[in-house]
Amino acid sequence: MGRENFADRRFFIHTFGCQMNVHDSEQLANIMTEAGYEQTPDVRQAKIILVNTCSIRSKVAQKIVSQLGRYRRWKDKDPEVIIGVGGCLAQHWGRDMFTKTPYVDLVFGTHAFHEVPQLVDMVRAGHGPVMDTELREEIPSLGICTAGKNGNGKTKHHSLVTIMQGCDNFCTYCVVPYLRGRERSRPSAEIIREIEALVKQGIREITLLGQNVNSYGRGLPEETNFPKLLAMINDISELERIRFTTSHPKDLTGGLVNCFGRLKKLCEHIHLPFQAGSDRVLTRMNRGYTRKDYLERITALRQCCPDIAISADVMVGFPGETAYDFDATLALMEEVCFDNLFSFMYSEREGTVAVSFGEKVPEKERNRRLKILQELQDRHTWERNQALVGKDVDVLVDGASKNDPQELTGRTRTNKIVNFAGPPILRGKTVTLNITGAYLHSLRGELKSPAAINVHKSPEVILGRKSPEVILVQK
Ligand code: 5AD
Ligand code: SF4
Repeated sequence: MGRENFADRRFFIHTFGCQMNVHDSEQLANIMTEAGYEQTPDVRQAKIILVNTCSIRSKVAQKIVSQLGRYRRWKDKDPEVIIGVGGCLAQHWGRDMFTKTPYVDLVFGTHAFHEVPQLVDMVRAGHGPVMDTELREEIPSLGICTAGKNGNGKTKHHSLVTIMQGCDNFCTYCVVPYLRGRERSRPSAEIIREIEALVKQGIREITLLGQNVNSYGRGLPEETNFPKLLAMINDISELERIRFTTSHPKDLTGGLVNCFGRLKKLCEHIHLPFQAGSDRVLTRMNRGYTRKDYLERITALRQCCPDIAISADVMVGFPGETAYDFDATLALMEEVCFDNLFSFMYSEREGTVAVSFGEKVPEKERNRRLKILQELQDRHTWERNQALVGKDVDVLVDGASKNDPQELTGRTRTNKIVNFAGPPILRGKTVTLNITGAYLHSLRGELKSPAAINVHKSPEVILGRKSPEVILVQK
């Protein structure tokens, strides 16, 4: 290794899938960097291309294979390039990955991220192709802190923190329990230490991650649960906002609902997948709650926190879903009026229970239902956003807006994107904006008078603005 030049040790990571994968990739970047490799944002400069994959729906898997085909062309030009595939699809396909994509040198499963530098070394030493898809009792990479590594890579003030991994729910359509293994929670002291370190690096907002964060604490030797963890995190000074994802309706206790009224730093937003509005379908999915249970939880959340934003996941065309069942899904949507909805067409996943279910819904019908559902949701998103026009909201500023670099963008506590005109110095600060426009995917806001710039608990207090360029800041 010692004789290699710097350029040989550059790696590039391509991430597919959920926030959990984004965070796993951040941890992988740390593992590689610690081992003396250098991350590059430009794949053309990389000798090691690592693709972190997702297997939740077949469409994502197809996309990954096409992308791997593009990376293959890279390798054809430079045979020294190593292609590694990790995460859920790698776990799912295992050795078959080498048959389906024979140019891949390295396959690492969901529990093997900490082994990647050694596996890369093995490939370089000529021992490839190599594979590690063992599901372990302990996941060594679970506790790797991304403090000091620029948070999620996009902003300096938001970071993802894994609090638990795996899933024991076995919804009949889902591959996650097979690919990510049994549910495990991290000790609370370790999580608190990580968040304190992140806050010292300037992180203001954290998102707690897990397949089912509500069941946090199960199986740990300490007496804890998710509301207790939230209360501990709420006490960390200098931290401004707490979010979490994903929640399971069956584990949403009254204690957790009450956290929304009680804990000041907990943002007024919950992502609560419902998947289907018909009890018959929910039973076949093994979801563990009824339509009535779900709606009761929504009522309780809104009683506790009237302004809470609610988003969810839903699926159409699950085997056996009749037109009547589909109507029940639309009716549930009408009742709740979600702020945002992630909607999917059922996709059959090898190894899951639902593969054996009869009464498959034809693709054309699944497409038709998805389109109807998405049109309804667009109307609801529009209505929920329009209701904010004229209101004042607190926005944590992310930085320049993607569409117009002259503008700033940030998120409300309810997780809505707001674009507005303001000076770059506001990046990482919380400001109060008046909402002047609402669209499907974002809001428009205006800074309240400069004196009203609100910098909650930040070390800097913005006093006022003489001109758009001059801002007085008191340390
Ligand atoms: N088909 C379609 N959607 C799925 N999801 C999970 N498994 C499948 C599948 N087999 C969706 C669920 C879940 C989200 C992350 O992905 O709605 O909440
Ligand atoms: Fe999959 Fe269900 Fe677990 Fe979510 S709760 S990861 S849908 S098995």
